[in-house]
Amino acid sequence: MRVLVTGAGGMLGRQVVLEYQRRGADVIYPTHAEMDITDYRQVNTAIGKARPDLVINCAAYTNVDKAEEEEDKAFLANGLGPRYLALACRQFATTLVHISTDYIFDGQASHPYQIYDIPHPINVYGASKLFGEATVREIGGNYFIARTSWLFGPGGKNFVDTILTLTRQKDELMVVNDQQGSPTYTADLAIALADLIDSKCYGTYHITNSGVTTWFELAKKVVSATGLKTMVRPCETKDFPRPADRPALSAMNPFPLKHVIGYSLPSWENAVERYVREITNGG
Ligand SMILES: NC(=O)c1ccc[n+]([C@@H]2O[C@H](COP(=O)([O-])OP(=O)(O)OC[C@H]3O[C@@H](n4cnc5c(N)ncnc54)[C@H](OP(=O)(O)O)[C@@H]3O)[C@@H](O)[C@H]2O)c1
Repeated sequence: MRVLVTGAGGMLGRQVVLEYQRRGADVIYPTHAEMDITDYRQVNTAIGKARPDLVINCAAYTNVDKAEEEEDKAFLANGLGPRYLALACRQFATTLVHISTDYIFDGQASHPYQIYDIPHPINVYGASKLFGEATVREIGGNYFIARTSWLFGPGGKNFVDTILTLTRQKDELMVVNDQQGSPTYTADLAIALADLIDSKCYGTYHITNSGVTTWFELAKKVVSATGLKTMVRPCETKDFPRPADRPALSAMNPFPLKHVIGYSLPSWENAVERYVREITNGG
């Protein structure tokens, strides 16, 4: 099987490449410069030349705060990029896997979001990602849309790494305790994604580690996994104003993922322990 991965220089993309290499696939991963997904000609030529069985789109504009002032850039990469990929995939009869986000939801629900709940983004990044989902559905063909959340893993800017750095520099950390979501280890996501793709049960899915928590609880877990004694104190979102609003609850119910791949992803606590062990002890 030949797989083309976009955004392979990013946090999730690199893990998807590793997972497919582990499974023995012929993996092609053009750099941003070699295949800019916002350039239709480049996209069409790259996919036409490689003729992959599968295109996995991990490329995106992911700076949530900066997107508020760079709306065009966000919509180009997160909206038009997926449209161009979907068009080329349809032309060459290739399956498209597109990664989306919990930030398409407004966070006002009282329970984790279902795949059939109606999205309503509250920031530009979320709106651009929702537009990307819509373009993939509009063009059609064989596609998966996989929404995920609160990613951490090697090779990317993420909350867990930030806490690991801060915990070595400070005795006390203040972390927001009024946003709930599901942290997700890119290594676990890449495995579940590949298993889902194998199923050929095309459609929209929620894929995260199991369980729901807050940034505060996640920070506490990271600190305890290191064995350090840094004090973590809770605070509120309003104590740390940011350019982009965040949903208060962006956890997502995984239904029907388990029915399709046959298992639930490990708990977020277990994922954090494995990741911290991996990067502190080299595995
Ligand atoms: N990180 C999270 O917590 C999170 C949560 C939910 C969903 N997601 C979604 O998960 C996916 C992967 O996220 P990530 O955290 O791995 O992102 P990331 O680390 O920021 O990586 C994104 C990659 O996309 C590349 N890229 C950006 N614009 C491109 C373009 N026009 N053409 C080709 N490549 C381009 C970037 O290259 P450059 O560095 O050269 O720009 C980078 O290699 C995204 O769809 C994101 O929306 C992420």
